[in-house]
Amino acid sequence: MEVPINLNSSTSYNNNNNNNNNNNNNNNNNNNNNNNNNNNNNNNNNNNNNNNNRRTVAGEKMDKKVLIADQINEKGIDELKDIVEVIPNFTISNEELLEAIKDFDAIIVRSRTKVTREIIEASDKLRIIARAGVGVDNVDVQAATERGIMVINAPESTSITVAEHTMGLILALSRKIAMADNSVKNGNWEKGRFMGVELNGKTLGVIGMGRIGNQVVTRSKAFGMDTLVYDPYITKKSALELGVTVVDLETLIKESDVMTIHVPLKPETKYLISKSQFEMMKENVFIVNCARGGIINEDDLYNALSNNQIRGAGLDVFENEPPKNSKLLELDNVVLTPHIAASTKEAQRDAAIIVCNEIKKVFKGTSPKNVINMPVLDPETSSLIKPYFTLIEKIGKFIIQTAKGNINEIDVTYCGALSEIPKQDILTR
Ligand SMILES: NC(=O)c1ccc[n+]([C@@H]2O[C@H](COP(=O)([O-])OP(=O)(O)OC[C@H]3O[C@@H](n4cnc5c(N)ncnc54)[C@H](O)[C@@H]3O)[C@@H](O)[C@H]2O)c1
Repeated sequence: MEVPINLNSSTSYNNNNNNNNNNNNNNNNNNNNNNNNNNNNNNNNNNNNNNNNRRTVAGEKMDKKVLIADQINEKGIDELKDIVEVIPNFTISNEELLEAIKDFDAIIVRSRTKVTREIIEASDKLRIIARAGVGVDNVDVQAATERGIMVINAPESTSITVAEHTMGLILALSRKIAMADNSVKNGNWEKGRFMGVELNGKTLGVIGMGRIGNQVVTRSKAFGMDTLVYDPYITKKSALELGVTVVDLETLIKESDVMTIHVPLKPETKYLISKSQFEMMKENVFIVNCARGGIINEDDLYNALSNNQIRGAGLDVFENEPPKNSKLLELDNVVLTPHIAASTKEAQRDAAIIVCNEIKKVFKGTSPKNVINMPVLDPETSSLIKPYFTLIEKIGKFIIQTAKGNINEIDVTYCGALSEIPKQDILTR
């Protein structure tokens, strides 16, 4: 039985982060609601199954096999097991997988299983590789794309979880919770040592206003914080709607009391926060990184912390994980967690439900939303639009070289046979 989850594809060519961010928020909320509904539905289904002592859709299974190679939440498996054959094998080795993969139409992994080029090339009818989480570092996406295999993930599953962890680190820093905990456990009662600061009325600087940044802003408002945002891809209109002030990075750095990073690690964000940025900061600032190691230069952070140039840092991610020989481990004014910002039962449950629903959509012939390596098209549509890809790429390159400022919106006018294809089919990303 299909339990739909709200994973609406964008049907607009509007490349406006405003809309994206709002959609992300809505999708997150909808997903949560849907997940709750799913849970209720699952419970109801279970009850019905027990009452009738039979499977909900006996005899209606599709001729598809899904391998679950890493342990995922049961709620996800429940989504699939009545419509396809589901084979859980949470200990399968890569050598065994090399042989077994031939039989499967889809494989679901978390982090343990590495879906290498070798495995992908050994597959026969594999259509989907699903990662029940956000990153796809353990999947050779290039090899999958070359074979026309979809790689699916669940980027929205961890946004609330990571935002909550971010708030946790901010509070741990502002109230010295980790240090105080350690002191009490060592038999001390040092009330004077742990004087904190309130968040109320302070300015939070959010670098990167995507899914997680949005959730952090929502939560910071409940703490009475003002918000500054730096995100080159956010528009004034969306900032207005979200009630945040968008500034350049330098202004954010100079004016924030607390800074938090929610951008991807890429060449332009590598060492985004280094010596010269630390020199611009208020001396009482806290900085938190729950995004990726390497966005903050850790040597420069160590110097800033040990010279009391800044007040404290909360890190969930490090350039090298674990950060065994890092000098940061010696400092009192840091709170460190072992890359667990995304680790909650709810996020894992949601990731499992989201990817299983995505797989279900593919098998049922509808468009999934979270395919990271291709738009989802039927072969006929695909052959019709393929020749236009080169043209579009060239137009894109031309526009990017001639446009001034950020591109917020692109209007595309096209006609002929192409215009007869439903937009939804093409614009899945
Ligand atoms: N600690 C963890 O376990 C964990 C879990 C999930 C995600 N993450 C990290 O958090 C990051 C953010 O996740 P998300 O889901 O919010 O991603 P997202 O794609 O929704 O948002 C990223 C935002 O960063 C902005 N951005 C891109 N380049 C920028 C730049 N140079 N300067 C400023 N802003 C820039 C984008 O416009 C976008 O709004 C991810 O890239 C990931 O690395 C960490």
